[in-house]
Amino acid sequence: MLVNEKTYQTVWMEGSSVFMIQQNLLPFEFSIYECPTYWDTCMAITDMIVRGAGAIGAAAGYAMAQAFLLSQNKTKAITIREARQDIENTRPTAKNLFYAVERVYQAGLISPENAVVEAQKVALQDTQDSKAIGEYGSQLIKKRANILTHCNAGWLAFVDYGTALAPIYLAKRQGKDVFVYVDETRPRNQGAKLTAWELQNDGIPHVIIPDNASATLMAEGKVDMVIVGADRIAANGDVANKIGTLEKAILAKEFDVPFYVAAPSSTFDKECKSGKEIPIEERSQDEVLYQTGIDTNGNRVKVLVASPESKAYNPAFDVTPAKYIQGIITEHGIIKAHATSVKKLLETIES
Ligand code: MRU
Repeated sequence: MLVNEKTYQTVWMEGSSVFMIQQNLLPFEFSIYECPTYWDTCMAITDMIVRGAGAIGAAAGYAMAQAFLLSQNKTKAITIREARQDIENTRPTAKNLFYAVERVYQAGLISPENAVVEAQKVALQDTQDSKAIGEYGSQLIKKRANILTHCNAGWLAFVDYGTALAPIYLAKRQGKDVFVYVDETRPRNQGAKLTAWELQNDGIPHVIIPDNASATLMAEGKVDMVIVGADRIAANGDVANKIGTLEKAILAKEFDVPFYVAAPSSTFDKECKSGKEIPIEERSQDEVLYQTGIDTNGNRVKVLVASPESKAYNPAFDVTPAKYIQGIITEHGIIKAHATSVKKLLETIES
């Protein structure tokens, strides 16, 4: 993706270091963060310097490769099993992370260099899958469309292109008249901060809306379709995505607005029979109680926005039952959110 006329990926590996766009500084500052060791990469995932299902998958794959490289260094006693555990403990919900770690772990058992090659393949596949999702998804977008999206499932959330936003980028390039309603997505505001920044950067007309404005917009007939991403999709088609997604899906059903999920096959988890089995991350209450931004002088600030003595509860994801989902846009086409379709997709990939 182009930023200031330079092509970037969200995350990449050079030598033994992992580099990433420092997403926790956006949209106020564009900066690249270097992780020299797998511990740094783990910290970057936990602290959401890199975030988004595909991007943390790629970062975790690179972290696994870094651990294999480090294990060659006799002065740094690490065990690969412990390293794998550390990486898998960073964030629990996105399946892409576990998918990438497993692939790179198996490759690394042959040699550390092989682990690096596999990690690069995982990242490349993420890019190719996102591109294909853009192509399939753009076919769903009419000549004129007002699209609502939640959180950030754009190129920042993957290695490139993104999932929910990829069809929108392509539709715009195809000359379609697209307009995006961007849910701000509290508490971390990935919509207001990241999706809006991406769309602005790509010249796509949009407005940021409060999370609680979507019912009104849908009731007024202002939304033609909803496209969101996914962090994990169960075998029966239930989808875990950023907290607040379920609410949009229920509203979309009520107001007869098609609700689509865009995700690569690496997000599907056949071991989770239904959404009830998907682990949901609970994050620090500070993300709810405080907001971060810049003041009028451009200084970064963190301010308390809640009653000082109150506690907060901060589940990071929710599960949308398959019955609310019109279709899942994958790199292999658009499938029904249904056990049979999910099974068929996963069999195609495995064969
Ligand atoms: O907590 P985040 O920002 O890592 O959230 C994950 C996501 O990016 C969203 O849930 C997104 O909609 C899923 S697609 C990457």
